[in-house]
Amino acid sequence: MDQIVPEQAPSQQPVEQSGMANGVMIRSILAGIGAYLPKRVVSNEELAERVETSDVWIRERTGIRQRHIAGPDETCAFMATEAARAALADAGVAPAEVGAIIVATATPDQAFPSTAVRVQAAIGAGGFGFDLSAACSGFIYAMSVADSMIKAGQVKGVLVIGAEVYSRIMNWEDRGTCVLFGDGAGAVFLRAGTGDGTAADRGILSTHLHANGNYGDMLYVDGAVGRPDRPGHLVMQGNQVFRHAVTLLSETVTEALAANDMPQSAVDWLVPHQANLRIIDGIGRKLGLPPERVVVTVDRHANTSAASIPLALSEAWHDGRIQRGQVVLMEALGGGLTWGSALVRM
Ligand code: ACO
Repeated sequence: MDQIVPEQAPSQQPVEQSGMANGVMIRSILAGIGAYLPKRVVSNEELAERVETSDVWIRERTGIRQRHIAGPDETCAFMATEAARAALADAGVAPAEVGAIIVATATPDQAFPSTAVRVQAAIGAGGFGFDLSAACSGFIYAMSVADSMIKAGQVKGVLVIGAEVYSRIMNWEDRGTCVLFGDGAGAVFLRAGTGDGTAADRGILSTHLHANGNYGDMLYVDGAVGRPDRPGHLVMQGNQVFRHAVTLLSETVTEALAANDMPQSAVDWLVPHQANLRIIDGIGRKLGLPPERVVVTVDRHANTSAASIPLALSEAWHDGRIQRGQVVLMEALGGGLTWGSALVRM
């Protein structure tokens, strides 16, 4: 019987070193980006009629001015499908070229089938699909998984979607949380390309993922689809999460740059998870980026969890701010706690 040789510290294997053969590196190219926002916009003033809060408090503490809230027909799968269609159209790619669909969501319409296979059926794609749960870090996690599958040669085209309807899990009487979140979906289509393994390559240059389950009770949903007595509401110790967010996101930004041997000045755009403008500003300052190089949507979208990064990316891509060849750093932290980064050359 062959001896099983244990891998050396597998958790420390840098993701960016896989997929290299004969001086050629498989890279996951961001070929198309799309988004969907619910039609209904809810202002801070409207929320102030329901709970004891004010537009001034919400804006000063979070930067949020409004959020989009899904109507009954704007389900998680519907929004994910719309975002997916937009990403495929942007890439000029037919559904037949989709090898896999990954939907990052904490608010699927059903426990199963997955949102991903609902999207698959709606757009008429083949391949396979699954949902991934990592709260607000879900899109970063999904990008990392998709990148690994592409580098392994398993698939050539992956739809990575973040789609959330947090309005369905809000306690609308808790002013500490209900003012913070919004609904929406964003998607990217990743296709296999090649590079020489340097930071000059186009595509995903690195991803880094982290989790610490010891912080699980800092931000959670107190129920589940499998509990009919208790579908669940989001519960958050906001100030605790805030403290960890600033420290852990600063570390993950440093980690991404070091892994790519890149100075801060090489980053053209920060596209952060949109939870709180104060956290976003803090990370931008840490990177030495002027505010106009940080993509901010939290003022209009609020926190859309796993959808926030692709929504922000889509906005800055389609309005022409982000250009091909530029370096984009994405980072997120969410329930788990989970956190991580993706460094991409567009
Ligand atoms: N309106 C008015 N007052 C409010 C409101 C509100 N909507 N919400 C809370 N307050 C009050 C509190 O009751 C408290 O009053 P007290 O001092 O009398 O007790 C006071 O405001 C301060 O509350 P804090 O929670 O300490 O306020 P803070 O400045 O920390 O801001 C916030 C709260 C915005 C939630 C902030 O902590 C935050 O953004 N945290 C991080 C959120 C985050 O990043 N989450 C991760 C992603 S989410 C995910 O993964 C699902």
